[in-house]
Amino acid sequence: MNFDTKVLHSYPMIDSDTGAASIPKYQSSTFHQKNFPDNQKYTYTRFGNPTVEGAEKAIAALEDAKYGIAFSSGMAAITATLLVLNSGDHLVLGKNIYGGTFQLLIELLNRFDVTYTYVDERNPSDWEEAIRSNTKMFYLETPSNPLLTVTNIQDVCRIAKMNKLLTVCDNTFMTPYYQQRLALGADIVIHSATKFLGGHSDLVMGVAVTNNEELKEKLYKNQKIIGSIPGIEEAWLLLRGIKTLTVRMKQASCNALILAKRLQTSDNVLAVHYPGLENHPDHLQHFQQAANGGAVLSFELKTEEQVHQLFKRVKIPIVAVSLGGVESILSYPWTMSHACMSEFDRLNAGVTTKLVRLSCGIEDVEDLWEDIQQALEGEEYEKN
Ligand SMILES: Cc1ncc(COP(=O)(O)O)c(C=O)c1O
Repeated sequence: MNFDTKVLHSYPMIDSDTGAASIPKYQSSTFHQKNFPDNQKYTYTRFGNPTVEGAEKAIAALEDAKYGIAFSSGMAAITATLLVLNSGDHLVLGKNIYGGTFQLLIELLNRFDVTYTYVDERNPSDWEEAIRSNTKMFYLETPSNPLLTVTNIQDVCRIAKMNKLLTVCDNTFMTPYYQQRLALGADIVIHSATKFLGGHSDLVMGVAVTNNEELKEKLYKNQKIIGSIPGIEEAWLLLRGIKTLTVRMKQASCNALILAKRLQTSDNVLAVHYPGLENHPDHLQHFQQAANGGAVLSFELKTEEQVHQLFKRVKIPIVAVSLGGVESILSYPWTMSHACMSEFDRLNAGVTTKLVRLSCGIEDVEDLWEDIQQALEGEEYEKN
């Protein structure tokens, strides 16, 4: 089945009891047990709910996975996943990852004696060299947030398998439409469903998928014990968002490529980071494992003042934390997505005070370009 059809028909989309064309919101915390004491499928929403289960089936189908587990946020999915580790375990991760994942390791898991080493995610040999006797997991994000560096998923997964390690991949930026990581060897794939899967900046949710039954059991148990289940409304919104994933991604990533190319030609821009550009250092590697450069790019301006002017003057993109909405979103990783990292760690990861991230929406690209241009080339700049 083609992916455009899959987003609508590869999972139960119709309510089996009533024929309703969308899975209803089973807005109930508990379920009447009419045949007590016999077991029944649904008993209490933290242990399972048909709307949440609908979303879990949908994401599993899109990732070609046996199992999908939904969480209250992307961070909840990451937390439940990292909690398959035990005290004393070590993990290896790319130095260029979402700031919240760093914070989870540094401020929380560290207290439970889970240690980590971060490596240059682009060099598979660095991953191999970082393995210790107590290493249990590789954690990667590609393309990374916010610098869009690329990790060779197959090579890193191969090294992990040779050393009996789990590989966990955050697939938020690419979505299953553009990159299928279980097929590339990952054991668990995670998404902040808040982003492209939901797609409308109106929900916070996370998902994890796996083909491994033991891992599925552990993730479900963590979800249940921690209580990090999504709300019913959010699960329903996710189901609705998924139906338009491909049309949104096509338009947004098409916009991203056009804007990345044009930004490269701007005198105000020092560098553009977008794996869809042929001169991106990881372009070829990226297209060996993904079908598109995606809808997120970042770029560096010459001065911090220019950054402030851009954010002040821009009219179409919203200025906000987050990405993956139908509307373009302009973010400042230094004080937004990566603010929870120390200055040293941010600079070490290449997150500078002049770096701007743009998540392209589905607006008309000429309107977007005109707006960005006027914001970059406004009077204040000319005065300098
Ligand atoms: C790549 C990536 N992973 C995970 C997260 C965390 O997701 P959430 O905000 O839904 O908890 C984010 C949030 O920006 C992200 O960009």
